[in-house]
Formats: sequence, C-alpha cells, structure tokens
Amino acid sequence: MRCPQCGHDNPAQVRFCGECGTRIEGLCPNCGTSNPPINKFCHQCGQALAPAPTPAVRFASPQSYTPPHLAEKILTSRTALEGERKQVTVLFTDVSGFTSISERLDPEEVHQFMNRAFELILGEVHRYEGTINQFLGDGVMALFGAPIAHEDHAQRAVHAALGMQRVLHGYGAELQRTQGITFRVRMGLNTGLVVVGSIGDNLRMDYTAVGDTTNLASRMVNLAESGQILIAEDTHRAVRGYFVTRPLGAQVIKGKAEPVNAYEVVRARGLRTRLEVGAERGLTPFVGREHELTLLQERWASTQAGRGQVILLMGEAGIGKSRLLLEFQRRLADAPVTWLTGRCISYGKEMAYLPLIDLLKHNCQIEEGDDDATVSAKIERGMGALGEELQPAIPHIKYLLSVPPGDDAVLRLDAQQRRLKLFAALQAMMLQGGQRRPLVLVVEDLHWIDKTSEDVLLHLADSIPTARVLLLVTYRPGATSIPLRSAPTRRA
Ligand SMILES: Nc1ncnc2c1ncn2[C@@H]1O[C@H](COP(=O)(O)OP(=O)(O)OP(=O)(O)O)[C@@H](O)[C@H]1O
Ligand SMILES: [Mg+2]
Repeated sequence: MRCPQCGHDNPAQVRFCGECGTRIEGLCPNCGTSNPPINKFCHQCGQALAPAPTPAVRFASPQSYTPPHLAEKILTSRTALEGERKQVTVLFTDVSGFTSISERLDPEEVHQFMNRAFELILGEVHRYEGTINQFLGDGVMALFGAPIAHEDHAQRAVHAALGMQRVLHGYGAELQRTQGITFRVRMGLNTGLVVVGSIGDNLRMDYTAVGDTTNLASRMVNLAESGQILIAEDTHRAVRGYFVTRPLGAQVIKGKAEPVNAYEVVRARGLRTRLEVGAERGLTPFVGREHELTLLQERWASTQAGRGQVILLMGEAGIGKSRLLLEFQRRLADAPVTWLTGRCISYGKEMAYLPLIDLLKHNCQIEEGDDDATVSAKIERGMGALGEELQPAIPHIKYLLSVPPGDDAVLRLDAQQRRLKLFAALQAMMLQGGQRRPLVLVVEDLHWIDKTSEDVLLHLADSIPTARVLLLVTYRPGATSIPLRSAPTRRA
C-alpha cells in the first residue's frame, strides 16, 4: 500500500506508513468508517471518497503540528491512558462545496488555501487542548478528552468550534474578496466513549470508537448547513447552560434505530461556573455550613469597619465552595455592598487577565455581542459612577476590554508601562469602589488563574488591609501555585 505522503510502499493492511508515520487509511466523510486509500467509494456506505490532496509535510505527523507544551502533556499521561475507555468529544469539519472549489482552482492553489485553513483550525483546536486525529482532504477530525484528559471536553470542543467558525469566517471573507471563492466550513460534534489504544512517540493516538461515537459526529456534519455547527444530543447534554443553542428536532440517522436530537450552536454564554449553570435547573436546599457562614460574616464586619480581608476557600470539586459564597451573598442581600465576581476557567491559564475581564464586564453590564461604542459607553458609565478621580483609569480599562482607549498615550506606552498603569487603574477602582460602598471581590477557581491575573491579585492584596474590600477566592487542593496563599486562611 503506497503512502500518500512519502510514496513508501507498505505491506497491505497497515494503518500507518512504516517510513514517515502518515496514517494510510482514510475516514469516510459520511459514516466515519476507515477506508484504505485505494478505495474510491466507502466500503461501508458507498459514499464517494474525494481524493485527498497530499498533506504538506507540516501536517504529516502529529509531532510536526502539535505544540511542545501539549506534546509533553500527551507523553506524560500516555501510560495512564492506553487501554482506557474514555469519554471524548469528536469534532468534524468539512468545507461546503469543496469539490466545486477544487475544480475551479489548480491543485497547488487548493493546497495553499486549505493549508491556511488547517493552520487556523489547528490554532483553535490546540487552544482548547484538543488534538487533530486526522486530516481529511477538506477538513479535520479532532478529539477532545483524549489523549489529553479533560472533564469539560465537550465544552472545550464547542468553544473550539465557535473559535474556528469565527476565524474561518474572516478567512472566507478574505478569499471571497481576493479570489472570488466562497469558502464556508460546517462542523459536527458528538460525545461518547472510545477505547484508547497505543499512543506513539510521534504522538499518534490509536483508538476504537465504542458504538456510534465517531459515526454520529460525522452524521452531524452532513446535516449541518454551510457555516453551521451542529451537536448531537449527548454533546448538548454535556454543554447545556454554557452555550445558546437552537433545537433542530429529532433527526433520522441512517444506521440508528432511534432518531437523534440535533442542536445548532449559536454562541457561548460567557464565563459561568458549574454552580451558576446548575442553579438554573434548581438548587438543593442549603444545609449546614453555619460555622463557615458565621466566620464570613465576622470578616465582613471587619471589612465594613475599614479593615479589609483576604479569605481563601480551599476544597475538593463539588464540596460546596461556590454554594457557600452564594449563601453568603444571599445573607448580604439587604446590606449596602457591591459584589463582583471574576471566574477562572480550565482552559484560561494562557488567557491574560481573564477573570478580571470577566469581573469588569459584569460590573459594567457588558453583554456578549455589544459593539465597541456600546462597550465604551458602558465602561464610562460604570467607572463614572465611582467618581471623577477615576477618569484617568478609563482608557486603561477600555484597552483591557479591547476597545479603542480614546487616548493615544495608552497606545504609545510599552508593554511594561501599560501593565503598571493598568494595575494602578484596577487598584484605584477597587479602593474608590470600596470607599463608596464596601466591596466583595470574588475570584472563583484560582487553580486555573493565568499568571498576569495572579500578579494583579497580589498587587491588590497589598492595599486591602486598610480598604473596605473583602477579597474571597476559591480553589481546589493540589494546584501548584496559588497566589495569596501566604495570607491567613481558614479551611472550607
Ligand atoms: N451546604 C450545602 N447544602 C446543599 N447543597 C450543597 C451544599 N454545598 C454544596 N451543595 C451543592 O453541591 C453542588 C456542588 O457545589 P459547588 O458547586 O458549590 O461546589 P464547588 O466546591 O464550588 O465545586 P467546584 O470546585 O467544582 O467549583 C451544588 O449543586 C451545590 O448546590
Ligand atoms: Mg465552584
């Protein structure tokens, strides 16, 4: 069997090239079945198999396209994973009308524009720590949840799909403008079990899908219209509450006895903790924790008196950290207090300032989809309410929230100067806010905090003892570095 990448002649039935490691078989875009490259039609469902353009060397092996930090994670966890049954989310992408595009262009041009699309896709998949399992001629199959294990693989996969939709939309507009090509990508996702096989030194993961896991994801992509992201029922169940979705009803799927519900993903709903999502479905009656609530109230009394406090709540996942804070917030419902929450998220370690951006957006009531002018106006209104003294901080906050700062001086600063000014702006906001009304500043899930936000918190903590600010942070045990740990703590 000849390798499509290097031309090496391999023995029949091999799955990977013995010379360069390229996967020899191809997945059917219709049913997901593996086919040897000599097949013109899928031996399972009869779908015509488009001849895949030869992948560039860049995409020849996972080793060549996986960033080093992810490669390291895969290699350190592989022995624990091999042979395991894992829940994963499978994502397929597909270029709508690829055949007609490729007929109009010469093969070199097709390679060029697909390679660029692959780069964009890779960027989004890797951002959420998924891996590309296979390059199909005009798309990819990506996996989330293995070989890098993540409990929130379905959320990550949907975020990656939305990220791809955004960047590929931009790329499509550029292709339309420059070459008159209509380039739109559709995506399909499903969540289910796979059995992880071997994970090679070149990072290639062998797996066996259990039941319909892969097949159904591939059916979703076929149901999708161009530009659309469709998720099957199991993925929807896993991400419900985190995204805005549109139900498309029960779909009859070839090979499945029962119809399967499909949903279109419309957009993300902003950062949300598990408790916030759970609260929409109703919370269990609160029990116990009187001791902890009393402690919090004592600290609150000190804060109100001008002796600010820092409290760290540490406890295993699900033990009730967020719920304790919610009950505390409810007890303060009638008190004069400003309550601000910033959330860290599992894929946010590389996203500078993430919980602070979240906190500021909530404070200024900025919604997803607000345009720059609206965001700007909301920042001015939110900051203006804290007093004239904060006017100089406004351009820095605008810059942080990615809108034009309205003061070119901010743009002329170098990165270090800008950082210092921003830290000072955040500190001024906190102190000024606390003077107007005592402030509770919550940062949830600190084990996922990015380095820059960590530095901001340390900076803020210095001035808290003399401010009317209660800084409350939650984290799970086992995290390597938790800022503020040296501050006095009480165990949750
Ligand atoms: N004291 C309590 N009484 C009743 N239900 C509780 C109590 N504490 C927690 N719960 C419930 O347990 C579930 C998990 O709690 P919560 O989300 O607060 O955990 P957590 O420690 O914040 O976990 P994570 O680290 O995953 O964020 C929630 O549904 C919550 O309502
Ligand atoms: Mg929590």
